[in-house]
Amino acid sequence: MTSTGGVTMRRDVWGLPLGLALLASAAAGATSVPWPRGRPPTPIELDETVSDAVELYDQERYEEYLEAYERGEDSEHVFLLQTWIDQGRYSVEKLFTFGDGAFEHDFQELDGYGDGSGRNLKRVHEGTYGGRDAHSCAGCHQLGGANGSGNVTANGFYFGDGEAIGSAVVRNPPAVLGLGYVQALAAEMTGVLTKLRRDAAAKAESSGEPVLVQLQAKGVDFGRIVVRPDGTIDDTELEGVDPDLVVRPFGWKGHTARLRRFAERAARIHFGIQSHVLAEQHQEDPQPERMGWGPNWWDPDGDGHQRELEEGILTAMAVYMALLEVPVIIPPTDAELRERWADGSALFDRIGCTECHRRKMTLNRLEWTETPDSAGSKPVTIHLVTDGEAPRSPGEVNLFSDLKRHDMGDDLADANEGPDGVARNVFITRPLWGVAETPPYLHDGRAATLLDAIRWHGGEAATARSTFEELTATQRQNLHIFLLSLTRQPKLKVAQ
Ligand code: HEC
Ligand code: HEC
Repeated sequence: MTSTGGVTMRRDVWGLPLGLALLASAAAGATSVPWPRGRPPTPIELDETVSDAVELYDQERYEEYLEAYERGEDSEHVFLLQTWIDQGRYSVEKLFTFGDGAFEHDFQELDGYGDGSGRNLKRVHEGTYGGRDAHSCAGCHQLGGANGSGNVTANGFYFGDGEAIGSAVVRNPPAVLGLGYVQALAAEMTGVLTKLRRDAAAKAESSGEPVLVQLQAKGVDFGRIVVRPDGTIDDTELEGVDPDLVVRPFGWKGHTARLRRFAERAARIHFGIQSHVLAEQHQEDPQPERMGWGPNWWDPDGDGHQRELEEGILTAMAVYMALLEVPVIIPPTDAELRERWADGSALFDRIGCTECHRRKMTLNRLEWTETPDSAGSKPVTIHLVTDGEAPRSPGEVNLFSDLKRHDMGDDLADANEGPDGVARNVFITRPLWGVAETPPYLHDGRAATLLDAIRWHGGEAATARSTFEELTATQRQNLHIFLLSLTRQPKLKVAQ
């Protein structure tokens, strides 16, 4: 926890609702705070919670001391063989704990940090090879609470020349909360879209005529495609999703569909920690620009370390991120503010924000199957409501996104092209849940406030932006008050 500068209760909340909201207004009794037990804590419960927080703090201090005299103790937390998971040795809860350990872990030479070239810690990444710009995931994802966003000083400068910031694609760290729901929603949407394509292909083949398919999933319109009898596809009118119809919800451009792939990529480009899944792929299809020119296939980055990240850790990190707390809506309790909040909420719908920032998405299947990469490995099934850190969401997810990419206009466009093939001005609708706690805003963190973020909207959002600008000052304030209620459940924290 050193890099997050504090100890929070979050690791303890599994099943045990210890994350207590400590809002001053809570004393009022009639409160909209989503208390874990449905009511404010009693003094005894509060006392227990404080002791647990202090105990956790003590334990973490102890582990730090232990690491000082027994070097490598901490690194054992980031070693987990997939075969052990396959043998059923770990509960979902235990995998979560492993994932937590890996997220907090300060990657170091002992783990295979960097590439042994002495060129570690570059502010600007070099092409797809990455940077070495941090030591832990938590180091960048920590603003507004554990697993939160990052300040502009934690920005990533991706796909650059390794030297000049102007050569890179600039990205600000978003929070990593509630992502199990996002991953599952996107997968269900992919399922719907690919089925529509499959059915059309069968129809085109049997009829010998091209078939036009209107692509809709969970009420979101992705344009249309024409499937020809020979199976080829005209996708010129496809919108907001890749031609393979896979909805990729992660990253500001929406470039990655699976959490395990994100964790793997982040470890590689931020720490030079290469998963052996990647090393195996590199063996089949060498990509030295991305993996390095190392002496053998098992050590592509040539730092003398092999199998730097086990597949089991990827599984644990995917389970962990899927089961992190979900942001909540906490309207103000003060009567006047509450009225202004309600007006702001209505304005949010009326001026067209919900065209992209859809309030709700419904998840049909609440179980997620985390499938490892190796053939023969056993999938881990997690339940998104009954497993994981409190608070959870039911099947109705208050995401405030359509998980679709949009043209956001030239003013918001990236300065450079990235390698993902998505145009510079196109971004996926950023979910607004928890947005009150995730400043700064927009893909490069250019906006300090929520209202500034709206003012940068252009392209498909130009009408919503100009309608926003025509509002009275009071109405704009009301909208701001509404956005500030999209927050996360406050938790007790013992400062370090
Ligand atoms: C140098 C800072 C930094 C470090 C270290 C870092 N991240 Fe990130 N993270 C970012 C940035 C910037 C983005 C946005 C990237 C993009 O849009 O492609 C991001 C995005 C993400 C996302 C996607 C979230 C979403 O909603 O789109 C996940 C998941 C994630 N990071 C997990 C991790 C994990 C796991 C680690 C450690 C292995 C890690 N990050 C380390 C900066 C960082
Ligand atoms: C055409 C789709 C669209 C519409 C309409 C739209 N947005 Fe957005 N919004 C986006 C996208 C895409 C992003 C991410 C931009 C980026 O990556 O820099 C975003 C980002 C944001 C952010 C910053 C979130 C963050 O975490 O950085 C806020 C706040 C926001 N929108 C609020 C609004 C409000 C309020 C409205 C209505 C006035 C609105 N948006 C209308 C697509 C839209």
